[in-house]
Amino acid sequence: MSTGKTTATGTAGTLTADIGLSAANVQGTVAILSRLLADEHVLYTRLRNYHWNVVGMAFGPLHALFQEQYEALAGDIDEIAERIRSLGATAPGTMTEFLQLATLAERPGDYPDDRTMVAHLVADHEAIIRHLRRDVRATDEQYDDLGTSDFLTALMEKHEKMAWLLRAHIEQRG
Ligand SMILES: [Fe+2]
Repeated sequence: MSTGKTTATGTAGTLTADIGLSAANVQGTVAILSRLLADEHVLYTRLRNYHWNVVGMAFGPLHALFQEQYEALAGDIDEIAERIRSLGATAPGTMTEFLQLATLAERPGDYPDDRTMVAHLVADHEAIIRHLRRDVRATDEQYDDLGTSDFLTALMEKHEKMAWLLRAHIEQRG
């Protein structure tokens, strides 16, 4: 029997997820996941933009690397949204909501050189990683949601690797 304690969004007519998390804890976790979903969309779009518009001697490898990363992000984005759904809440799904929720900023009309593109992408990954490091703790210690904490830990590791793959292009030795 449902305890009725875990109606995540209060949306009338939805079934309550009776999974041992309080409504307040689900709300805390869903807020974290929704902001993350929005930031991933901003980075996804920036990767596609740079995949299309990169120029220079490194066009080939960067064009390919940006594609590899936006394809990986597309899978992660789906997992984040479906995790929100599995907690019983509604996943934001419009550009308007993403831009309201995101902490990463878009750069409309900005088509920088290849090194600057890579630097912007590294900065985006690093900002997401710093958020995730806090969120891994908050979902565990504050919201008692070990499943999400574990999910976010794995995602943080993926971003750490993607950040390195980009950073290595602009790093100087010595
Ligand atoms: Fe393409």
